[in-house]
Amino acid sequence: MRFLVVTLFFTFLFSCIDAYDPLDPNGNITIKWDVISWTADGYVAVVTVNNFQMYRHIMSPGWTIGWTWDKKEVIWDMKGAQATEQGDCSKFKGTIPHCCKMNPTVVDLLPGAPYNQQFSNCCRGGVLAAWGQDPQAAVSAFQVSVGQAGTSNKTVKLPQNFTMLGPVPGYTCGPAKIVPPTAFLTPDRRRKTQALMTWNVTCAYSQFLAQKHPSCCVSFSSFYNETITSCPSCACGCENKNKCVKSDSKLLSVVGINTPRKDNVPLLQCTHHMCPIRVHWHVKANYKDYWRAKVAITNFNYRMNYTQWTLVVQHPNLNNVTQVFSFDYKPLVSYGSINDTGMFYGMKFFNELLMEAGPFGNVQSEVLLQKDKETFTFKQGWGFPWKVYFNGDECTLPPPDSYPFLPNSAYSNQPFFPRFTASTVILFLIVFWW
Ligand SMILES: *[C@@H]1O[C@H](CO)[C@@H](O)[C@H](O)[C@H]1NC(C)=O
Ligand SMILES: *[C@@H]1O[C@H](CO)[C@@H](O)[C@H](O)[C@H]1NC(C)=O
Ligand SMILES: *[C@@H]1O[C@H](CO)[C@@H](O)[C@H](O)[C@H]1NC(C)=O
Ligand SMILES: *[C@@H]1O[C@H](CO)[C@@H](O)[C@H](O)[C@H]1NC(C)=O
Ligand SMILES: *[C@@H]1O[C@H](CO)[C@@H](O)[C@H](O)[C@H]1NC(C)=O
Ligand SMILES: *[C@@H]1O[C@H](CO)[C@@H](O)[C@H](O)[C@H]1NC(C)=O
Ligand SMILES: *[C@@H]1O[C@H](CO)[C@@H](O)[C@H](O)[C@H]1NC(C)=O
Ligand SMILES: *[C@@H]1O[C@H](CO)[C@@H](O)[C@H](O)[C@H]1NC(C)=O
Repeated sequence: MRFLVVTLFFTFLFSCIDAYDPLDPNGNITIKWDVISWTADGYVAVVTVNNFQMYRHIMSPGWTIGWTWDKKEVIWDMKGAQATEQGDCSKFKGTIPHCCKMNPTVVDLLPGAPYNQQFSNCCRGGVLAAWGQDPQAAVSAFQVSVGQAGTSNKTVKLPQNFTMLGPVPGYTCGPAKIVPPTAFLTPDRRRKTQALMTWNVTCAYSQFLAQKHPSCCVSFSSFYNETITSCPSCACGCENKNKCVKSDSKLLSVVGINTPRKDNVPLLQCTHHMCPIRVHWHVKANYKDYWRAKVAITNFNYRMNYTQWTLVVQHPNLNNVTQVFSFDYKPLVSYGSINDTGMFYGMKFFNELLMEAGPFGNVQSEVLLQKDKETFTFKQGWGFPWKVYFNGDECTLPPPDSYPFLPNSAYSNQPFFPRFTASTVILFLIVFWW
């Protein structure tokens, strides 16, 4: 019972902290506008989209950014991106603007766009890597020429009400804010120039805005107990249970079953958890000074290849990762001294692609951890992670009392891994009050 309360309490605690990610407190997407010249009727700006999120990337079909003009601005021209709709430009004679809509919606160009439409850091179909995975690929940029707009930093009006799809919903953007102008170094690094004016927009992600249900679940097993703790039933919602496909179905030989849909609606293999992704953590071996765990990620969505996937795991022993065998690994130090969270991701050209559901729809690796004699134990499910995120979304863990446990170790109802000092105090209060 106490466990239930504790679990509920934490669920509640985390669902209240909207758009704040304790594992990545500075994670955001920043859209920066640098005005590089004033024109006869407006300005030319370079817009840079930086994904500063450590472990959340933007997958294909990429970002979509929208805003509302303050006055009657139009877009004369764009390089490196395009507005999805031109809108009503019937008032214009001669040169017709690229977009006349009050609220333009902009997407990146696809790879291989004509040379004269390209711009540096453009044309990746809106795909942005996670900052922690590949900072160089975490940036996208385009140039926009705005007309019928202010022509000086006193008269220009900032665009408003920015929106962003990444490509999933879940991002909320703040207002544009004038910031100190960006400085640019010339390629030979011998001269510095600066933007005429710069404004920033910051967008933050909240999983609770993005989707009603989690999109992944976690299962456990161990060498010391033959119980396999599977994902909780309906961990990702069972509303679509009648639309899933059995793994032995004849449908699977139908051409086109793997064709992604425009709206990204998944086609799931039937499972009791109905999650597109399952993460399995197996405590594999115990040595004198080390222990070893195996991690496997399985894709149950027939319509999705996950490119540049990320897996974030929180476990107290991740401060002593000795070797990770076939994934790349990077610690995420979010509390300064507490170093218990790390990001696993695929190796380039080897397993950075998690294929659609089916025989190749899984990736796996092993982790070797050095024991810290003070804290190491296999009791009370210590060998299993506290939190798991796939592609930046938190996965549902099995209930703590179902973890495989050490034979002959009485399972005790102690609070599970007290974590944050402040919340631990509250937690104890609740437990005793109960
Ligand atoms: C956005 O992220 C950057 C980089 O982590 C950080 O410097 C900045 O303060 C963040 N902005 C906001 C508004 O959180
Ligand atoms: C506008 O430009 C003038 C110089 O042209 C500068 O002195 C002023 O600080 C600028 N204001 C803003 C808000 O950037
Ligand atoms: C921006 O959104 C706010 C709140 O939704 C609304 O009141 C305002 O009119 C919008 N501004 C524009 C220019 O659409
Ligand atoms: C504006 O955004 C850029 C990243 O594009 C960032 O480096 C800069 O610190 C931001 N400025 C402010 C004041 O947040
Ligand atoms: C996944 O990638 C493979 C190989 O590139 C391709 O044949 C398949 O159609 C892709 N599946 C989806 C759902 O995009
Ligand atoms: C965090 O742990 C990793 C090993 O997983 C280690 O390489 C890194 O130096 C540690 N960082 C800190 C600040 O302790
Ligand atoms: C890793 O474990 C060893 C042995 O217990 C310990 O001396 C060392 O401080 C640990 N390293 C970290 C980063 O905690
Ligand atoms: C293995 O763990 C389960 C709990 O998940 C427990 O019921 C069972 O008794 C354990 N097996 C042994 C041999 O201790």
